[in-house]
Amino acid sequence: QAATTYEAENATVSQGVVESNHAGYSGTGFVNYDNTTGSYVEFAVDAATAGPATLTLRYANGTTTNRPMALAVNGTATTRDFPGTGAWTTWQESTITTTLNAGTNTVRATATTANGGPNLDRLVL
Ligand code: GCU
Ligand code: CA
Repeated sequence: QAATTYEAENATVSQGVVESNHAGYSGTGFVNYDNTTGSYVEFAVDAATAGPATLTLRYANGTTTNRPMALAVNGTATTRDFPGTGAWTTWQESTITTTLNAGTNTVRATATTANGGPNLDRLVL
């Protein structure tokens, strides 16, 4: 299907704030996760058909410490590293291959350490 962009600033945010003080994001901003375990951003992702799909997350981590997150697709989680990108204005992409249902899917990215997640710009399917 054609690529669809889901901006983090339009997603459901728990323990995080939408900000726009670091350039290079798409849309109108990004989510700054609270620096705490369990902070998350949840996207409602629509798939035309069931089956394998590639999700691309765009993020920045201006520290030198990895900020791993649990990526749960319809409740089934895998953990992904989000290492430092060099600056808060340097955005990088991380892709995951998963299986989606036809229709709406939930994709939740939850910080697994007390540092919280990286700053999160968007998800593209
Ligand atoms: C800085 C930065 C934030 C970032 C935060 C963090 O405050 O400006 O965008 O989220 O560090 O370490 O998580
Ligand atoms: Ca933060």
